[in-house]
Amino acid sequence: MKKGCKYGTHRVIEPVGVLPQPALKICNDMELFSNEILIDVIALNIDSASFTQIEEEAGHDVEKIKAKIKEIVADRGKMQNPVTGSGGMLIGTIEKIGDDLVGKTNLKVGDKIATLVSLSLTPLRIDEIIDIKPDIDRVEIKGKAILFESGIYAVLPEDMSENLALAALDVAGAPAQVAKLVKPCESVVILGSAGKSGMLCAYEAVKRVGPTGNVIGLVRNEKEKALLSRVSPKINIVIADATKPMEVLEAVLAANNGKEVDVAINCVNVANTEMSTILPVRNLGIAYFFSMATSFTKAALGAEGVGKDITMIVGNGYTIDHAAITLEELRESAALREIFNELYL
Ligand SMILES: NC(=O)c1ccc[n+]([C@@H]2O[C@H](COP(=O)([O-])OP(=O)(O)OC[C@H]3O[C@@H](n4cnc5c(N)ncnc54)[C@H](OP(=O)(O)O)[C@@H]3O)[C@@H](O)[C@H]2O)c1
Repeated sequence: MKKGCKYGTHRVIEPVGVLPQPALKICNDMELFSNEILIDVIALNIDSASFTQIEEEAGHDVEKIKAKIKEIVADRGKMQNPVTGSGGMLIGTIEKIGDDLVGKTNLKVGDKIATLVSLSLTPLRIDEIIDIKPDIDRVEIKGKAILFESGIYAVLPEDMSENLALAALDVAGAPAQVAKLVKPCESVVILGSAGKSGMLCAYEAVKRVGPTGNVIGLVRNEKEKALLSRVSPKINIVIADATKPMEVLEAVLAANNGKEVDVAINCVNVANTEMSTILPVRNLGIAYFFSMATSFTKAALGAEGVGKDITMIVGNGYTIDHAAITLEELRESAALREIFNELYL
């Protein structure tokens, strides 16, 4: 077996010299390199932005959606939407482990895993599309995929349904970062707190601040307030529009005895919420932007413009043990499990 680059550059066809994610075309033949893992794919979980775009382009016609997905994978060697640039994740079983990884990975042939690296960099071959489930952006297929040596994954747990685990793993970076950033006695605000990542973050923050801390969940209406209140009675819920920084600042100060908070977590899915995240944070506090709609320019210039010396963290989807931390939340909290079963299955 030949050995490849641990980041997968040996499979990049075009343009030469880039990594697989930004590449336009990668090699998806399934001849295994010694530091790769071959996956027998069960289903693709297409990124929501990507699936919506394909669905609309195909006029919601399932056969056209299938044809578009096959066309993209045939062109690129990976499921990367050419319009949105995004991918998604896959689930499958381990078919073969490259010689150099035997003994180095905890995986064994037959394990069912979810890949936690994007489909936009994963070599993929589709032999047949079996079914498409538009409600949950899922495409069931027969096919194969390759995981590079640096690729991360989670073995699917046996004590919860596949769909429940996938829903949580999709946003696993956020609650796991909260677990690391938030300390006892601190005050924390979470913007978009009734969304998928927002609820997980709020639950984790309540755990981390302990009885003397203050977790403020910012939501946009009474319906979301009712939902979030089911996650924990200890969440101090406020209603405000995250695109209106002064409204958010006032609401957060009122919920925190007039003081700025130690940490702000942005989990909204709309643009122009940078200053609502930055303004309520005390000097030398932390703003964590999980939202993909965050503008680096707006955050950097905005913080400077209001004279805030705060640490701003880009929402890296990965942090060590993120899958374990997030799945544990679903085991611990019957309320979270119930809500996730209601909303995301
Ligand atoms: N960094 C990463 O690796 C990574 C990975 C996955 C996802 N993400 C990003 O993380 C963000 C959140 O993802 P998610 O799955 O948790 O999304 P989600 O479930 O849709 O949650 C977003 C929440 O923000 C709320 N919201 C929208 N506009 C608001 C406003 N003006 N004021 C207050 N709340 C508002 C939404 O309310 P409504 O439902 O009422 O609109 C919803 O509750 C997205 O931007 C996503 O792209 C990042």
